[in-house]
Amino acid sequence: MSVISEIKQRIDIVELVSEYIPLQKAGRNFKGLCPFHSEKHPSFFVFPEQQTWHCFGACGSGGDVFSFLMKKLGLDFSQVLRLLAQKADVTLGPPGTLEKRKEEEDDGRIEKEKLFRINEAAAEFYHHLLLNAEEGKIAKGYLAKRKLTSETIKEFRLGLSPDSWEAAKKYLINKGYEERDLISGGLIIEKEGGGSYDRFRNRLMFPICDIQGHVTGFGARALDDSLPKYLNSPQTIVFDKGGTLYGIDKAIVAARKKNSLIIVEGYMDVLLLHQFGWQNVVASMGTSLTEKQVDIIKKLTRNILLALDADAAGEEAILRGMEVINRSGDKKVIPVPLCSGLVRYEGILDAEIKVITLPLNKDPDEVVSENPNLWQNLVGQALPILDFAFHTVVSKVDTDKAKDKSLAIQKLLPLIEEIKDPLRQAQYVQKLAHELKLSEPILLAYIRKAKSSGMKQKTTELAEKSRFSRHLASSVVEEYCLALLFQYPELHELTRELLPEHFQHTENRELFIQWQNCQDISHLQGELDTTLSEHLYYLLNKRFPPPLQQSAKKREFDFQACVLRLQEELSRTLQTAKKLTLELTREKEGSNAELTNPESSSGQQLKETFYREAKEIKQWTQSREKTRN
Ligand code: UTP
Ligand code: MN
Repeated sequence: MSVISEIKQRIDIVELVSEYIPLQKAGRNFKGLCPFHSEKHPSFFVFPEQQTWHCFGACGSGGDVFSFLMKKLGLDFSQVLRLLAQKADVTLGPPGTLEKRKEEEDDGRIEKEKLFRINEAAAEFYHHLLLNAEEGKIAKGYLAKRKLTSETIKEFRLGLSPDSWEAAKKYLINKGYEERDLISGGLIIEKEGGGSYDRFRNRLMFPICDIQGHVTGFGARALDDSLPKYLNSPQTIVFDKGGTLYGIDKAIVAARKKNSLIIVEGYMDVLLLHQFGWQNVVASMGTSLTEKQVDIIKKLTRNILLALDADAAGEEAILRGMEVINRSGDKKVIPVPLCSGLVRYEGILDAEIKVITLPLNKDPDEVVSENPNLWQNLVGQALPILDFAFHTVVSKVDTDKAKDKSLAIQKLLPLIEEIKDPLRQAQYVQKLAHELKLSEPILLAYIRKAKSSGMKQKTTELAEKSRFSRHLASSVVEEYCLALLFQYPELHELTRELLPEHFQHTENRELFIQWQNCQDISHLQGELDTTLSEHLYYLLNKRFPPPLQQSAKKREFDFQACVLRLQEELSRTLQTAKKLTLELTREKEGSNAELTNPESSSGQQLKETFYREAKEIKQWTQSREKTRN
């Protein structure tokens, strides 16, 4: 990840702006008096979900965290970069040239290759021991009991780590590897008083590979009930659990061919499914799907199937929308997207995510080995993630009780809000009304009410949420637009309508300004701050699909489409704010307007139901608020 996006991820725009001017909540957003011109009524808005700000008053400017500080403190991009890097605790490279950076990168590559070789040697060692040594017998027996064939064992190169404190270490040092490299690769552990010992002892070893097939680390299962059940490699320069999918190297071909990828939780599940002919399977290694993993998947297919546990905890967890896990290696707590995140992934990736529901207390490995047809059926019956969420929530509530209805709406509303396509969104609102036995106007009125008052999200929750969207809010269009422009200079003729303000992300805006000043890219590269020149380098190396590479017409067309999109986005922001300002005024004038005047006046009965339900829901929300405080 680039330094710039790392900073954007760690710094929340609401928090940052609040350090300079007081902000008030305005719906999902925040407003305040614009710090850039004098005014009496707030026209300065901060949008946490987009991580942007905009002033709709006299100055009309807007942007991201970088441009806010640049404007507020009168600094240039590289000064603000240093300031924010420090604040976000992100290490900036020395302000040197790109050549120097590349040299360092090469050093990094050499280090990585060394760890790959060490892991490779270790995998061979463990595998050999399992297959040939006397002490491999018990482990082999265990694997047979788990129904794994020797072909699978060989294909995945399963192994056994010896029941000894130093056997692996001695073997690897004998092979010429150095102790400190074994430590940084996570194979041995350094003792406090000096010396070191094998990390993995008497365990079944699962070599974990990256998409190219390099061994990056190991999962190690206890052969009995001892804990932890699995011990994994620690975070190293080649192993990052959250960015790993077990089995990916062996799933590529099948995933492309079947145009789908199944994600299970455990190593064992991958092995057995593979053995039963399901090669398009990987394991998320016991955590929820992370963005890094999605990045890997999207290169293979847009059809993702998640095999989820049927246990209640699992369902609750995916509905909470977010779960906090501890990343191994660093102590930072990172939010992991679950259900609402997945719906957003769908929108962004243009992907379809389905859920395979497993029988209670059964892992996929058991299902497929006991009854291959059942597994086949479960895959066939997989539900789109939204339907799954609806089903899960609605099946647990009593749709005759207003309180339950309200609860269900609260749980599902965030998901519905994530749906990008308005038509599809409307369909799901309809579906929800139907399943909760509510009329649509009542549901809509309730949703509107809930949005403006009732279940207002707390700032922290909102910040949490925005932190995740920040993760994804990479400016695809902006980058695509600039990459085209920089790689195909003849497009400059089409830039007359394009303004720096059209770029919300400062790194892009800055590059565009620099390019406007001097349209010679090779000259530009020498002039820029390292971070910006890295970003430029990235854009210059962005690959385009062959049809675009071959056709100047297609490039022009795409470029114009990008410009249009950027213009539209800016005008949409402007409209949002106008609407917001209007809504706020209306709210002040009579906040219950909607409740006392339901737009559909279709009959006395409907009204009565509506009032009764509204009252119940209100009472219930209030009592909940009280208990919460
Ligand atoms: P499971 O407990 O479902 O493991 O955890 P499993 O793979 O099905 O193993 P068996 O069937 O009991 O032998 C799912 C995954 O979570 C991670 C591992 O990646 C595991 O495959 N995990 C689990 C750990 O990393 N550490 C643990 O202690 C447990
Ligand atoms: Mn299992």
